[in-house]
Amino acid sequence: MANAPGLVSPPASCFRMRNLAPLGLFRPRLFVAARNVRRTRLWCCAAAVDGGVEEDHVLKAAATSSNPRLPRVVGMGSKLVGCGSAVPKLLISNDDLAQIVETSDEWISVRTGIRNRRVLTGGETVGGLAVEAAKGALEMAQVEPDHVNLVIMCTSTPDDLFGCGAQVQRDLGCKNAWAFDATAACSGFVVGLITATRFIKGGGFQNVLVIGADGLSRYVDWTDRGTCILFGDAAGAVLVQACSGDEDGLLGFDLHSDGHGQKHLNAIAKDEETELISSNNGAPLFPPKRSSFSCIQMNGKEVFRFAVRCVPESIEAALEEAGLASSGIDWLLLHQANQRIVDAVATRLQMSPDKVISNLANYGNTSAASIPLALDEAVRSGKVQAGNTIAAAGFGAGLTWGSAIVRWK
Ligand code: ACO
Repeated sequence: MANAPGLVSPPASCFRMRNLAPLGLFRPRLFVAARNVRRTRLWCCAAAVDGGVEEDHVLKAAATSSNPRLPRVVGMGSKLVGCGSAVPKLLISNDDLAQIVETSDEWISVRTGIRNRRVLTGGETVGGLAVEAAKGALEMAQVEPDHVNLVIMCTSTPDDLFGCGAQVQRDLGCKNAWAFDATAACSGFVVGLITATRFIKGGGFQNVLVIGADGLSRYVDWTDRGTCILFGDAAGAVLVQACSGDEDGLLGFDLHSDGHGQKHLNAIAKDEETELISSNNGAPLFPPKRSSFSCIQMNGKEVFRFAVRCVPESIEAALEEAGLASSGIDWLLLHQANQRIVDAVATRLQMSPDKVISNLANYGNTSAASIPLALDEAVRSGKVQAGNTIAAAGFGAGLTWGSAIVRWK
């Protein structure tokens, strides 16, 4: 963070280790705060991180207040307290795909681990799945919709070009929340999760819904056997809640992007030229355009290499920040793209297969939904238990990739 005049910020690494967020970020009036006010907030921040007194007081006040928004104190912890998921009704098996393109169940399952995927049909929407998943997370957390302060809708395929987070917020009845969409392809959920913790720690938010939801089937070329076998649609959600610093469930994180790799994985906006509209004297007035997106274009081998190289490095960096070795992790939960990628990363991190969460056989690559969908299944089946530590990592288009070391509850 660049130092504003008079604002003494610790080195970046220190900021991240202590899970502090930039100050004065969330309300315009904070930007105009005088220099001495900024200094005061830095003091508050240090006090809240190092001691529990002010923090406890604030949390208790929030619990009893009718206004779910906490006073703005930085330095609190955040933890995952609920999860949920939803998938479309239509199941498409590898055998079904073999009737459309030249492929086979054996080829797909051996190369990817995928056997089935779910695809949006009829009136199903990405937003609809997101609402269902988020309801599950709220129910598990026993939090009422009007106690949610923020909805982060992580998606690359919103139902509306301008995003659908606000519609999801409306349909959930989160009338005290605001919402926005976050686009980081298959890394979207990890980005949203880390963003949620920053709003809690730096912004005094109490309950943040992080939803990963995608309908990549809308952009799949169903005649391209190199890509159509991979993707499915789904949504998953978690509720991230403020807690004391001692209980903080985000132990470390690491995020990256590199636009140089866009050529390996993209769905580019296409402008279709339409006829020029001419004025009465024949002079061109303006060239109107209609835009759409291409189907997903992917160089599978390059994406595979990128994932196997960058994901373990990212997890190792996050583990280092958390002060943990991979042996201290209960579960490895990667973006569900390809079982061979999952296995290669687990091998590199020396994690045994029984510590790896995988459900891509049933759903394929569901982009931003894949991590919360797999987490929800693992929690509800009793696999992941309270206190378990999870290394989660997303990777995909952008290129983007990142990891979070989190504790469940
Ligand atoms: N069925 C049968 N044969 C196929 C199929 C198919 N579905 N697809 C490709 N082939 C053929 C190819 O034509 C090729 O034939 P050839 O040797 O005669 O030319 C042969 O199989 C090998 O093809 P490759 O593309 O080299 O196969 P590869 O082993 O690389 O597997 C795959 C392809 C599964 C796509 C793999 O590269 C992969 O999983 N890559 C990672 C993809 C990924 O994880 N993407 C994440 C996206 S995340 C996001 O943000 C969207």
